[in-house]
Amino acid sequence: MIELDDIKAIKKIDKKNMLGALELFPEQCEEAEKIARKTRLSVLFKKPRSIIILGMGGSGISGDIVKAILSEELDIPIFVNKDYKLPKFANKNSLFLAVSYSGNTEETLSAFEQAVSLGAFVISITSGGELAKKARNSNLPVMTIPGGLQPRAALGYLLIPIFVVLEKLGLIKSKVDEIKNTVDSLKQTRETLSPGNPLNKNLAKQLAERLVGKIPVVYGSCGITGVAALRWKCQFNENSKVPAFYNIFPELNHNETVGWELLKDITERFFLIIFKDDQDHPQVKKRIDITKSLIQEHFDSVFETWTKGESKLERIFSIIYLGDFVSTYLAVAEGIDPSPVERISLLKKELAKE
Ligand code: F6R
Repeated sequence: MIELDDIKAIKKIDKKNMLGALELFPEQCEEAEKIARKTRLSVLFKKPRSIIILGMGGSGISGDIVKAILSEELDIPIFVNKDYKLPKFANKNSLFLAVSYSGNTEETLSAFEQAVSLGAFVISITSGGELAKKARNSNLPVMTIPGGLQPRAALGYLLIPIFVVLEKLGLIKSKVDEIKNTVDSLKQTRETLSPGNPLNKNLAKQLAERLVGKIPVVYGSCGITGVAALRWKCQFNENSKVPAFYNIFPELNHNETVGWELLKDITERFFLIIFKDDQDHPQVKKRIDITKSLIQEHFDSVFETWTKGESKLERIFSIIYLGDFVSTYLAVAEGIDPSPVERISLLKKELAKE
């Protein structure tokens, strides 16, 4: 196992500098906001009947985060489309946001084309690729974000512009303060999670060490922590290259809770991670405690943490940022480069063949 305080060894393994990208994440959010505020949305627009966000994987999760944050604020439905096809309710009165870091993801491109053929207004957020070309050819706006990162490391570039677009179109109230406060607390958190902070004071490094050889199971709630649980799961998959699972309270109490009953010899290699939020429904808070007492003996370990901060954005990112570091350190501890996702690239190549 690689020593997580050995900066030289870390740099040798983290060849594409995922940790560097993580350390610059607060500044990425600031830059994303500037780019988005500069982009002119030239088309006059009447209030849409629904918002549909198109995107997959590290890009698509920006839609899930927006949905988790805005569901109590918007008076129109918001839907995240992770498919080639659009749902039947989509029409020219829907507002579409096509989010693809590379701009070349085939599901997103297919859904984008369908949205254009409906005559709908589509705003694209991308670093380029086919999506940028197609959007320009259709005279539709593009928010061009810098390339060169792994999509999942570009979450600030992919997410923040969505809020700015919705704000510009008068659909939500200003997010300026929330973004600023979130960036400020990310900058503070960075001090404690960065490689320069030693293991005995660094929660991300400590968790990564405990997770070596374990299978993470991440639980959040259907308030805001569920989407953070999804992000942790995906980051364990893509950065650490391990199987990982997530689920959401209260639904998991109606099925999965029963599943942790047999196969103890296998589940004792599973590591349960639970997120709690002060604003969770009171019954959800109770459910989390009862569930823990019912199932914890079936896991190797249980780690619980609370969200921190005021706004939903700040609270979600207090958890997401920790997970991004944990999954990256876990890769490094195992001697694995966190950045490449060879199987995703291979799949995309194979699918693109005639
Ligand atoms: C890779 C990653 C993937 C991609 C997904 C969609 O870092 O996170 O989940 O995000 O394959 O590709 P893009 O984001 O280019 O549309």
